[in-house]
Amino acid sequence: MEKAKSRAKLNDSSVIDARSLSQSHRRLAELLEPGMTVLDVGCGTGAITSGIAEAVGPTGKVLGVDNNIDLINKARERYQDIPSLSFETADIYDLPYEKQFDIVTSARVLQWLAQPEQALENLVKTAKPGGKVIVLDYNHEKISWQPEVPDSMKYFYEKFLQWRSDAAMDNAIADHLADMFERSGLTQINVSPQHEEVNRNDEGFETATFVWSGVATTKGGAQMIADGIIDRNSVEQASIDYQKWVEEKAEAQRMYLLAVEGMKLEKK
Ligand SMILES: C[S@@+](CC[C@H](N)C(=O)[O-])C[C@H]1O[C@@H](n2cnc3c(N)ncnc32)[C@H](O)[C@@H]1O
Repeated sequence: MEKAKSRAKLNDSSVIDARSLSQSHRRLAELLEPGMTVLDVGCGTGAITSGIAEAVGPTGKVLGVDNNIDLINKARERYQDIPSLSFETADIYDLPYEKQFDIVTSARVLQWLAQPEQALENLVKTAKPGGKVIVLDYNHEKISWQPEVPDSMKYFYEKFLQWRSDAAMDNAIADHLADMFERSGLTQINVSPQHEEVNRNDEGFETATFVWSGVATTKGGAQMIADGIIDRNSVEQASIDYQKWVEEKAEAQRMYLLAVEGMKLEKK
């Protein structure tokens, strides 16, 4: 579990800063109504959370929590002008809330956890009876690139998946969420595909492909080297080849992403 915790911290915040409710958590956007109370767990720098606050309006209440204090400080600074929105430091394994929220969400977080089932139990606990839990997550085994990425990048990505599963993270968690929801007693389970597909001429193309050059060139790659799963030359080669592929060949990238929602029973 400690391994998963330190590996989860390796995200570059420029990727999460650029997200929005309408683009990056579309199914949640459909569920929100004015006046709702919403908890966003693993909110990062609050980009999606601020969109949630806008959607529920001034009569609603939105709380974003994250276990990374630096991200919470940044979120507070960025969105201090929205009165119905607040941010707190909290760990998904230890949430100090109970039966308080109409909707509880956690986006792209369970993928980084060694005990996602336990995390889901905690999310359920914070929802009001009759409230909803909605989790958004990837199946990293189902990423697709057109045309294929260079072999050095394929090798890097394979090692990246191995590095994650060594830390007990579930690379295919998106496809396991519905069963997890059922086991945790949620009802009316609904699965919405939300795959992130970008094509060469799309506006978000650079940011989306940067996720991988980012992992390869920054802290993620360095940490994989330090953990002995891959050598420095292989990371550098993957990074060079991949950048070149992005510039010269890349047509499309699709990350497989599902939103899974369920309702908490009235009596729970
Ligand atoms: C990939 S980011 C997703 C941020 C945002 N939800 C989004 O979709 O853009 C994952 C976030 O989960 C947070 N996180 C990881 N483990 C956590 C834990 N145990 N408790 C709370 N937050 C956690 C990280 O700090 C990070 O901000």
